[in-house]
Amino acid sequence: MPKIFSGSSNKPLAEKICNVLSTSLSPVEMTIFSDGEKRIRIVDRVVDEDCIVIQSTASPVDENYMEIFFIVDALKRSGARSVIAVIPYLGYQRQDHVFREGEAVSLSVVIKTIERLGVSKVITLDLHSIKIREEFGIELTQLSALSLFAQKIREESLTDTVLVSPDMGGIRRVKIISEMLGNMPYSTIVKNRDLTTGKIEAEKIEGKVLKKAIIIDDVISSGKTIMAAAEILRINGAEDIKVMAAHAVLSANASELLQGSVVSEVIVTDTIEIPRNKQFSKLETLSVADIIAKELKK
Ligand code: R5P
Repeated sequence: MPKIFSGSSNKPLAEKICNVLSTSLSPVEMTIFSDGEKRIRIVDRVVDEDCIVIQSTASPVDENYMEIFFIVDALKRSGARSVIAVIPYLGYQRQDHVFREGEAVSLSVVIKTIERLGVSKVITLDLHSIKIREEFGIELTQLSALSLFAQKIREESLTDTVLVSPDMGGIRRVKIISEMLGNMPYSTIVKNRDLTTGKIEAEKIEGKVLKKAIIIDDVISSGKTIMAAAEILRINGAEDIKVMAAHAVLSANASELLQGSVVSEVIVTDTIEIPRNKQFSKLETLSVADIIAKELKK
């Protein structure tokens, strides 16, 4: 088994993965100077070893990226034969192309850095778009939490229930779950986002609305997409609205918005560690540790 290291962004998930693999995390010594700079040191001998680094790159996204960059650099300088980066939530993935003239493609910068540092493979979950794969010059394995969501839905009555994509970009995701559940009905919301103000508007629903609706998304950040989707579903007759999303970024006041909304349950995964002050009673977290561990066993 390769040696497994973790950054500080999601140690609980890294430890769970190690538990499943009946191993433990190798130590990473980290010194934080008074100006915020970090010094990273690998304690174990890694010469000619295959190594894995686990680090989610949600908020604080830049800091978390710098940490994984330094850990990979330390491993390579210490003689590691190969380094696989497990990045359960890949920060900056939504800036995967130029939306408006003059913009940087942040994701591309991040990927170039990962590649330049000598990472041989990246393992991640539920990317925002299928086009992201094209940005990678190294091997990329994309895992998915959709099977966890399908299992969760199966545990309840499927009658009078429709799956809903909160925007056109999410149809593929919803179709996959629908197939897993024996072609469960699904609908799509047509969403508009103002790129200057960030304002989101749910314009219309394509497909039918049933009594129970389950919104499936990849990321919940500000929560505005979910709020707009839930509102249009309620207006169109949905009485029970649940949400399932792989990555709980929960920025700004998303937790308060969701807790106070018409949504009855928000089911996410632990690709991102959710701090106590962002947790709320409607929130349930499923673990992706088994999914990642199974991949690492290969
Ligand atoms: C958008 O295309 C994504 O799939 C998510 O719906 C979006 O990123 C969620 O962001 P927010 O919670 O800020 O609306």
